[in-house]
Amino acid sequence: MPNKLTAETPLVVASHNQGKIREIRELLAHYGLRVKTASELNLEEPEETGTTFEANAELKALASAKATGLPALADDSGFAVDALDGDPGIYSARWAGPDKDFAMAMRNVEEKLQQKGATAPEDRSCHFVAVLCLAWPDGETQFFRGEVKGTAVWPPRGDKGFGYDPMFLPEGHDITFGEMTSDQKHGWKPGGKDGLSHRSRAFKLFADACLEG
Ligand code: IMP
Repeated sequence: MPNKLTAETPLVVASHNQGKIREIRELLAHYGLRVKTASELNLEEPEETGTTFEANAELKALASAKATGLPALADDSGFAVDALDGDPGIYSARWAGPDKDFAMAMRNVEEKLQQKGATAPEDRSCHFVAVLCLAWPDGETQFFRGEVKGTAVWPPRGDKGFGYDPMFLPEGHDITFGEMTSDQKHGWKPGGKDGLSHRSRAFKLFADACLEG
């Protein structure tokens, strides 16, 4: 029987990425949970040596759970472009370099799409992936994966999100994640908890499995 979290359980969010932390806080608040982040607790950021989203989420969550003795939640996520064989994928953060220059990372994606002749929308399919790992101090782990499909657009549009949001047009929508408010990106409907973004979809699975009530 997996461990369950309650609103009183202190939870550590194993991330140092401010864009993600903002969204994770909003998503957890939606489920009544409050958190401390790894950056607030001055925890070290482990090197992401895994070759899958799951492996990287697990190593981040376990490092924070072991360091604090508290349950820890990590998100490993990325932007995967089909015509680029899923790149940048697990290397999404690294494509932005040490300066975290996502304008450059998006240009790089666009250049590679142009080199492949992928100019028509149907050749530019892509998706975001988020894998959440909840790790307990005893080493138990649970995983939740959310994905959202879309089209890579150029030029980038909007300045509301982070990372690759401005070039991601989610299926069935006419504005990019970069043009959406965070509530639109989460995709919450009044009275419902359905998600739009990869992250809110993963959080719904996490909440259903791990939260009391
Ligand atoms: P990591 O999970 O810390 O390795 O980094 C994931 C990277 O994927 C982020 O730095 C972003 O570049 C990208 N990414 C993940 N989720 C999103 C999102 O919701 N919007 C835009 N970019 C994202």
